[in-house]
Amino acid sequence: MNQTRRGFMGKAFGAVAGVGAVGALYAMKRSWDPLPSVKAAGFTTIDVSSCAENKLVVEKWRGKPIFVLRKTAEMVAAQDEAQNARDIIVEGAHFMIAIGLCTHLGCIPAYREDKTDFKCACHGGEFDSSGINTVLPPEKPLLIPPFKVTGSTVVLGEEGEVYKKMKESGLIA
Ligand code: FES
Repeated sequence: MNQTRRGFMGKAFGAVAGVGAVGALYAMKRSWDPLPSVKAAGFTTIDVSSCAENKLVVEKWRGKPIFVLRKTAEMVAAQDEAQNARDIIVEGAHFMIAIGLCTHLGCIPAYREDKTDFKCACHGGEFDSSGINTVLPPEKPLLIPPFKVTGSTVVLGEEGEVYKKMKESGLIA
């Protein structure tokens, strides 16, 4: 009888531990994959509606890090024309979406929420919240990947109308 009870208790603890482990793995997966996104054949589809303001999200497209930054109203109000021109508007919200590789030698710059800019630790380069280079050595802004906006989603890897206009106006290097 005792043996049977011990066996039952062992199984019960095992089941609880198993559920806990699955829960922990699920939580870890959620933190690795912060935005609902789908990756397929060179395209990454990101639903940006859940992006918090002034919190950098890093997605992945064709093996490259992609910065997605939803700007605050204050950030937008303080922008000049060059910064406005690089904004991607999704359902009325302003986003900076750029390849997260420094245009000097390819390091990944860090976003500083307090200064709303990017700092590259490799050689001290800096970019503003629109990805425009402000402190040398980088001589070019962060690159904007091909994108298309549909509703609250951004498809990376597809050239939409807004991207084509940016390209025509020389914004895309
Ligand atoms: S790689 Fe960023 S400043 Fe040199």
